Amino acid sequence: MRGTILIYGASGGIGSATARRLHQNGYRLHLAGRDPERTQALAKELGASCSVGDVLDDTSIARITAEAGDVLEGLVYAVGSITLKALSRISRADFLRDYELNAVSAALAVQAALPALKRSASSSVVLFSSIAAGQGFGMHASIGMAKAAVSGLTLSLAAELAPSIRVNAIAPSLTQTPLSKNLWQNDAMAHSIAGLHPIPRLGSSEDMAGLAAFLLSSDAAWITGQIMAVDGGRSSLRVKG
Ligand SMILES: NC(=O)c1ccc[n+]([C@@H]2O[C@H](COP(=O)([O-])OP(=O)(O)OC[C@H]3O[C@@H](n4cnc5c(N)ncnc54)[C@H](OP(=O)(O)O)[C@@H]3O)[C@@H](O)[C@H]2O)c1
Repeated sequence: MRGTILIYGASGGIGSATARRLHQNGYRLHLAGRDPERTQALAKELGASCSVGDVLDDTSIARITAEAGDVLEGLVYAVGSITLKALSRISRADFLRDYELNAVSAALAVQAALPALKRSASSSVVLFSSIAAGQGFGMHASIGMAKAAVSGLTLSLAAELAPSIRVNAIAPSLTQTPLSKNLWQNDAMAHSIAGLHPIPRLGSSEDMAGLAAFLLSSDAAWITGQIMAVDGGRSSLRVKG
């Protein structure tokens, strides 16, 4: 059995797919989720330990970290939001909530886990940025800003924690999870957004889980400080015109 990976957002689309992939790969898991029923059901399925808590509450992060154990080989922060609003409709509270949930709580989750991550000979952290951190999209002012903060956080932590702890982020394009359901539940809209990708489909949780598992593994031992796009080529390619 490999070391323990702590997964925040484990009951979500990408978090649960990552948990299943890591379980297949022989890791011990500690799952952290906000919804008790879904978190406990997944923990039972995978033979994992679990904690329930809200990451906007610092005492929850401290408790979750303590319950995850003394030694961690990895941490995945798969908590986030997609707030799509015109600038004129975004309040200070909206901006601050996206920033806190996506960036500040990710930083505090890593901070709390540092002693346990340092007890592994080498350990790895995977955060989630977004295609919207590196490319401009209308209605994305709040989430684009928050995810750009995640990308900056990834670089800073990778520098500060090298060489013993590697820190990377995944930047997905639209991925079919409960979070983004409003954008893909209508077939016409899903088809139209899929067509914007050089590989013309939407992302799946498994696409993200595959890269997360690689970044946590020793196969990625010389990879740190990277923001990796998983986006069907959307952020870097123009195949028509
Ligand atoms: N899906 C996309 O298109 C897409 C695109 C770019 C980036 N991302 C990023 O990918 C990551 C994973 O997202 P996903 O698509 O898998 O979303 P998801 O299915 O909604 O999963 C997110 C998870 O975070 C949990 N969560 C939300 N707020 C929380 C809080 N305050 N405290 C504790 N847990 C909380 C949710 O719990 P509940 O189930 O209880 O709400 C859920 O388990 C996020 O960082 C997201 O921003 C996703």
